[in-house]
Amino acid sequence: MPTALITGVTGQDGSYLAEFMLGLGYQVIGMVRRASVVRLDRLEAIQDRVILAQGDLLDQVCLVRILQEYEPDEIYNLAAQSFVPTSWHQPILTGEVTALGVTRMLEAIRTVRPSARFYQASSSEMFGKVREVPQKETTPFYPRSPYGAAKVYGHWMTVNYRESYGLHATSGILFNHGSPRRGLEFVERKISLGVASIKLGLADKLPLGNLEARRDMGFAGDYARAMWLMLQQDEPDDYVVATGETHSVREMCDIAFSHAGLDYQDYVVRDERFFRPAEVDLLVGDPSKAGRVLGWEPQITFTELMHMMVDADLELLRSDERVPDVTEMTTLRR
Ligand code: NAP
Ligand code: GDD
Repeated sequence: MPTALITGVTGQDGSYLAEFMLGLGYQVIGMVRRASVVRLDRLEAIQDRVILAQGDLLDQVCLVRILQEYEPDEIYNLAAQSFVPTSWHQPILTGEVTALGVTRMLEAIRTVRPSARFYQASSSEMFGKVREVPQKETTPFYPRSPYGAAKVYGHWMTVNYRESYGLHATSGILFNHGSPRRGLEFVERKISLGVASIKLGLADKLPLGNLEARRDMGFAGDYARAMWLMLQQDEPDDYVVATGETHSVREMCDIAFSHAGLDYQDYVVRDERFFRPAEVDLLVGDPSKAGRVLGWEPQITFTELMHMMVDADLELLRSDERVPDVTEMTTLRR
C-alpha cells in the first residue's frame, strides 16, 4: 500500500485529495498543526481512516521527523496561508508559510526521503497582471500580492530542486476552484452563503468589492484528481489546471441568486472595504497540456458548481448550523 503525506489536509483541497487517495487504497498521512481546538470538520467522513501527524510548515524539525517516521512515497504540499487579502495584513507570515515553507519541505525531502514524489500547490495568482491570454505553463509571472509573490518563490524552488537535485518535484498551477467546503471568505462561498442567508430571511444584503474581476473557476474535487495524476507521471513537470472559461464576479452573483429565484441587483451592495490595493483583473487558463499528458478534464461546470454551493449552503443554514461571519476580518483600510 503506497503512503501519501498531505500537508493542509484540514483545508478544502486536502480533504478532497485525502478522500480520493483513500479510495485508491493509499495510506494517507495528514499533517495537522497544533491548535487549542483542532477543526477536522472537512474530514468528518474519513477521519478514522486518515493518520494525523502533528506538524507545521514553519518548523523544519517536525517535517524531517514526519518523513523519517512515515516514509511517504508521495508528498502533496497543500498547506499555505491561502487568502489573498490576509497576505497584505500578514505579509511576513505569508512569506514564511507559503514561500519558505516550500523550501523547508523540499530540504527535508532532499535529506531524508529523496525518492518521494513531491507536488507543490502553485497558483494562477502568480500570473497576476497577466502577460498573455489565456495563461499557460510558459506565461511569465507578474504577481500582484504578497501571496502571489510567495507562490512564485515556491514554484521556482520546486523547479530548482527538480533541476539541481533530480527530485521528482512537480508544480501544479491551479486556477480558482471552489466547493461546498470552500473557506467562507473566498468570493464564490461568500456569495453562495449570502444567497442562502437572504433566501432564508437571515440577511437582507450582500456587501462585495470588485464585481468585474474575472476568474477561471472549477470544482475542487476535479482539481484533486489532477494533483494525483501529476505524480503518476514518469517525469516531473509543471501543469496548468483550469477550465479554459472565465466568469466575472457579477456573473457568479447572477447565477447564484437566480438559482434561488432572486435578482442579485436587489441585494448586492458595493463595499469599498472589499476592494484590493492591487487587483488581478482577468484569469483564464489553457489546460491543454493537462488534457494531453494527464488525460484530465473537469467534470463539473461553473454553473453546476455555483448551484451545488447554493444548495449546500441552504441545507447548512436550514440545519440550524451557526456560521460565523469571518468575511469582514480582513477588510482593507484605504
Ligand atoms: P485552505 O482551505 O485555505 O487550506 C489551507 C491549509 O493549510 C489548511 O489545512 C491550513 O491548516 C494549512 N496551513 C496553514 N498554515 C499552515 C502551517 N503553517 N503549517 C501547516 N499547515 C498550515 O486552502 P485550499 O483552498 O485547500 O488550497 C490548497 C492549496 O492550494 C493552498 O496552498 C492554496 O494556496 C493553493 N491554491 C488554491 C486554489 C484554490 O482556488 N482553492 C488555487 C490555486 C492554488 P488549518 O486548517 O490549521 O488552518
Ligand atoms: N474574497 C472576496 N470578497 N473577493 C471579492 C469580493 C469579496 O467581497 N468582492 C469581489 N471580490 C473579487 C476579488 O477582488 C477577486 O478579484 C475575486 O473576487 C476573487 O477573490 P477570492 O475569492 O478572494 O480569490 P482569489 O482569486 O483572490 O484567490 C483564490 O484563488 C487563487 C488562484 O487564482 C485563492 O483560492 C488563492 O489561494 C488561489 O491561489
